Amino acid sequence: MKTLKVALLGCGNVGSQVARILIDDADALASRTGARLELTGIAVRNPDAPRDTDLPKDLFTTDAEKLVEDADIVIELMGGLEPARSLMLHAIGHGASVVTGNKALLAADGAALFEKADAAGVRLAYEAAVAGAIPILRPIRDSLSGDRITRVLGIVNGTTNYILDAMDSTGAQFADALAEAQRLGYAEADPTADVEGHDAASKGAILASLAFHTHFDLANVSCEGISAVTAEDIAAAKEAGFVIKLLAIAEKLQDDDGAEGVSVRVHPTLLPRTHPLAAVHGAFNAVFVEAENAGELMFYGQGAGGAPTASAVMGDVVSTARRLVLGGPLGAETPTGHVPALPFEKVTTSYSIGLQVT
Ligand code: HSE
Repeated sequence: MKTLKVALLGCGNVGSQVARILIDDADALASRTGARLELTGIAVRNPDAPRDTDLPKDLFTTDAEKLVEDADIVIELMGGLEPARSLMLHAIGHGASVVTGNKALLAADGAALFEKADAAGVRLAYEAAVAGAIPILRPIRDSLSGDRITRVLGIVNGTTNYILDAMDSTGAQFADALAEAQRLGYAEADPTADVEGHDAASKGAILASLAFHTHFDLANVSCEGISAVTAEDIAAAKEAGFVIKLLAIAEKLQDDDGAEGVSVRVHPTLLPRTHPLAAVHGAFNAVFVEAENAGELMFYGQGAGGAPTASAVMGDVVSTARRLVLGGPLGAETPTGHVPALPFEKVTTSYSIGLQVT
């Protein structure tokens, strides 16, 4: 049986679970892919740092560059822009396919990476970048590619959904709900990327790109977080039959002159309490898709966490391995067409009403 060498970059919550699956499920993965997936090393900054799982010490290395040079598949789970970008380019340059969950990097610089992967004829897959365990990118890119998507509404940040849900159910103020989210380990010590909407904006750019067959990056996303939402805002919304959710919204609209464009934005949104997304509680994620022929679809599940996100990563690893074994299409999981991007400024439409918090 063929062996494919797999290199892992990063060993945090998600990386350690990916390593565990690669080792513990090696036989099952081999039978599903037709190749043994050999974990050749795990590049980390500190090999002696405590890990979630008990992994063989000899797998750890600090020499990430050398590790990727000899790999068939590189799994990038370091996060952040650098050195993740340089290492991914190095891996692609050496003919490796890349699986990543790095939404910030893809939203900032995805186009350049996609181009390099396409030119090198390697796969660049990133299902784990949006909504953790929920299979959402491939359904949008592939299953719905014969339809016309008109709108995507996503609760794609678990931390902010937890905070808003706690405010809604207990009447707590933002600061108290944030402190509880931090105590439970949802929010980071520095929660800026979550509460100011930056994490959701990166995911919104990726969703919009695939749903509307063009490339949007972070600069195309209008973004407002939840840090100014008060208990009084939540109570007033509730009184009027609404719930406030932080949504990533991508929708096709026409401007006053009839020109068609796509609005991509993140902001606290008033949703009727009867909307399916209103029933998404705690740190869960959900993506609601409206398409001309399919109608309304909702994808729901755990949007973060080690094992759930590792599930999405491993799905990409298995499908990449199958393509390497069977000769299926490689290249980047990019938008399938070239519709010109006409991003609008923040707009107010039907039921996705932006809440202008001052
Ligand atoms: N901080 C993110 C969240 C983790 O709360 O959803 C997944 O990107």
